[in-house]
Amino acid sequence: MTTTATTRPVIPPCDHKPHPYTGPSRQEVLTMRQQYCNPAIFTLYQDPLMIVEGHMQYLYDETGRRYLDLFAGIVTVSCGHSHPKVVARMKNQLDLITHTTTIYLHPNFPAMAKKLASKMPQGLDVTYFTNSGSEANDLAMLIARLYTGSNDIIAVRNSYHGNSPTAMAATSHHTWKYPAQLNSGIHHAISPDPYRSPFSGTPEQVASQAADDIRQLIRYSTPGRVAGYIAEPIQGVGGATQGAPNYLKEAYAVVREYGGLCIADEVQTGFGRTGDHYWGFQNSGVVPDIVTMAKGIGNGAPLAAVTTRRDIASVLTQRVHFNTFGGNPVSMAAGLAVLDVIDEDGLQQNSKVVGGRFKQGLKELQTRHRMIGDVRGMGLMLGAELVRDRGTKEPAKEETLQILEIAREHGVLLGKGGLDGNVLRIKPPMCLTAQDVDFALEVLDLALGRVEK
Ligand SMILES: Cc1ncc(COP(=O)(O)O)c(C=O)c1O
Repeated sequence: MTTTATTRPVIPPCDHKPHPYTGPSRQEVLTMRQQYCNPAIFTLYQDPLMIVEGHMQYLYDETGRRYLDLFAGIVTVSCGHSHPKVVARMKNQLDLITHTTTIYLHPNFPAMAKKLASKMPQGLDVTYFTNSGSEANDLAMLIARLYTGSNDIIAVRNSYHGNSPTAMAATSHHTWKYPAQLNSGIHHAISPDPYRSPFSGTPEQVASQAADDIRQLIRYSTPGRVAGYIAEPIQGVGGATQGAPNYLKEAYAVVREYGGLCIADEVQTGFGRTGDHYWGFQNSGVVPDIVTMAKGIGNGAPLAAVTTRRDIASVLTQRVHFNTFGGNPVSMAAGLAVLDVIDEDGLQQNSKVVGGRFKQGLKELQTRHRMIGDVRGMGLMLGAELVRDRGTKEPAKEETLQILEIAREHGVLLGKGGLDGNVLRIKPPMCLTAQDVDFALEVLDLALGRVEK
């Protein structure tokens, strides 16, 4: 795996032949974007990359160059880009009807709800569909407030829950929050991640102290009753941070003691990505009251969901609640196909095996590259935190960007995250192979070596 100055890592072979690209030039696209699109949208690389085709774990630019995708459209392409079975089932549905709304019966959305129920712990069997994770989290928090009659919600520092008003309020990164009145009554408890914790002790002790911080937050900052608690089992945008397995158990117990519902944001951790289990919360042996999902559920189709118990879901019936595209037949066809493909292609098991190989490789790189301060995550939801000094843990922010650029030059697309943008995020389509992992590690080895010089 070690790379010398003379060898250049070679991307594993692939039979797919990209179509010749005949659309507007890269420069024209860039100009249109700059002129007509909201300036808040950003690109990852200094010289923006244009992607016009995808096949499973690979992406193609307009020249036909192939890249290994380790970021999956931000943890969204679960089965693989344009997975043939998912595409075929969406196409079949497109030929029949593309939109109905829930005011008529259509088989797809109750079938998808039934299938999701079969993947959940018993009792979590009622689903409401939305289009995005933000909407799903907004709705989950609304349901918790209506069900409990309380307003206050506990979220966790370093979390990301979306950009609609309540989800943005629950998000805990200054970079993603606007200075506007978003939503009152959301409080952030200290993260259980041991790497940068203000608490000391073993990861389990840090987790217990973080769970106790929820109790203190409730006692000091709320009326002593809460509507709920929302947390990602592994924080995604936050840089694959996670507490020891006792954290969620203890956190849920505290929240329930004060009358709150526990919401698991499975937008990134769901659908087998963490390897050992289908849902991230299962790694901690807890059962939430509400589960929110998006991203991987649709392999790229705009689809998200809130699953809960019937008694909890019933609170929405006191008013009319409607979502035009929630339950859209094409999105549902995609979702139904995704759930089948995850099982048929063994993607959860692949995440475990191939993700385990990747994590082990990152840990090996850590022994040779001083910049890797921490390697963490599970399955194919991994993070490597880059620091300038392992003692001070000063974030290696610019260096992380340089590594992204070098990896791109060598055909590997990485993500980044963390409050300081100094965590390499590795969350590829779950069809990644062992050869892909070895190639990616060679490229990372080379990139780290160049930046550390
Ligand atoms: C954990 C988590 N929750 C919610 C969201 C919001 O999802 P969306 O961008 O679909 O609104 C995201 C998006 O990155 C996320 O990572």
